[in-house]
Amino acid sequence: MTVSNKDKVKELIKTKVSLAPMAGITDFMMRDLIRKYTKDSLLTTEMISSEFLRQVKGNVIEKKNEKSSPVSYQISGHKPQMMADAAKYLEQFADMIDINMGCPVNKVVKGQDGCALMKNPQLATDIVKAIKEVINVPLSVKFRLGYTFEELNYVEFGQKMQEAGADFITIHGRTRSQMYSGNADWEKIRLLKDNVDVPVFANGDVNSIETAEECLAKSKADGVAIGRGTLGDLSLIYRIEHYFKTGEKLPLPTIEEKIEQAIAHLNYEIELRGENTGIKFMRKFYPYYISKIHQATKLRSKLMVSEDLKEIYEILNIIKQKKEPII
Ligand SMILES: Cc1cc2nc3c(=O)[nH]c(=O)nc-3n(C[C@H](O)[C@H](O)[C@H](O)COP(=O)(O)O)c2cc1C
Repeated sequence: MTVSNKDKVKELIKTKVSLAPMAGITDFMMRDLIRKYTKDSLLTTEMISSEFLRQVKGNVIEKKNEKSSPVSYQISGHKPQMMADAAKYLEQFADMIDINMGCPVNKVVKGQDGCALMKNPQLATDIVKAIKEVINVPLSVKFRLGYTFEELNYVEFGQKMQEAGADFITIHGRTRSQMYSGNADWEKIRLLKDNVDVPVFANGDVNSIETAEECLAKSKADGVAIGRGTLGDLSLIYRIEHYFKTGEKLPLPTIEEKIEQAIAHLNYEIELRGENTGIKFMRKFYPYYISKIHQATKLRSKLMVSEDLKEIYEILNIIKQKKEPII
C-alpha cells in the first residue's frame, strides 16, 4: 500500500514542532546535536542553493549529509528546472523538500530567490509544479506575510502554492521589509490557516514553551517552527515537543547543562572541522550558551578570542561551576 503525501506529512509533523532552516547554523552538526534530544521532530537543513548544488553535485553534499530522519532539505533558487534537479538529487537524503520563499537578504532577493518569489507567484507556482513532477517525498514551502506591509499577499500566495502541489507550509509572521525587526504577527497567520487545507507551521519569535503555546493559540497553526531559540539551547525543541505531548514543563537547562552542551558542541566542531577552524567556528555560538549568566561577561569575551583549546576548556569549566541562577 502506498502512503499518501498527506499521511507522510502528518507523520513528519506529529510533534507539532520543527527546527527552522538557518544558513550557517542548521548544518548536519547542529542537527545532530539537537537530534540527541528529540528523536521525532522535523529538522530542516540550511538552505542549499540549487545553483551551487548544480556545480558540486555528487561531491560535497553527498559526503557530508547523512540522513538523520525526519529531515527536510531546503533549497533556494528561481529556475524551475534547476530547482527540480536539486530536489530530485536531494530526495535521496530527505523526508521532505522545502522551498525557500522567505529569505529577505538583499543578495538573495536581487537574484529573484527567497522572498522575491512572493512578488512573482507565477514563477513560484512553476517551481512547485516542476519539483512535484520529479519527487516522491512531500514538498513544503516557507514564506513570509508578504514583501512589504502594502503587499500582504500571504493568504492568496499560500493558496496558489497549495494548488500547485505544496503539501505543507511554514510561515514566518513578518514581511520581507521587516527583515527581523519588530515582532512576528502570530494572529495574522490564522487567516492563512483558515484558508488552506494543508498543514501550516507558524514561525517567528518562539523561544520557550510559553511562547510556543501562545503562538499556537493565536495562529491556530498546526505547529511551530523554531530558529533562533535553539541557539544555545539544544533541548528547546524537545522540551516543547514533550510539553505538547504530555503537558509537563521540563525545567530550563541549568548553567551546568548549558556549558555541557557548549562543550559537546565545541568537541563536535573540532572533530569535524579540525581544531583551528572548529575553535573559530564555535565563536558565533558562545554568546548564546553563555548569556544571562551572572558575571560571565569577561570570561565570555576571553573565549571569543582564545585560540588555545586548553584555555577554552578551562574557561568553560569555570563558568560551569557558577552556582548563581541564570539572570
Ligand atoms: C542566521 C539565520 C539564518 C537563516 N537562514 C534561513 C534559511 O537558510 N532559510 C530560511 O528559509 N530561513 C532562514 N532564516 C529564517 C529562519 O528560518 C526563521 O524564519 C526566522 O529566524 C524567524 O524564526 P525565529 O524567530 O524562530 O528565529 C534564517 C534566520 C537566521 C537568524
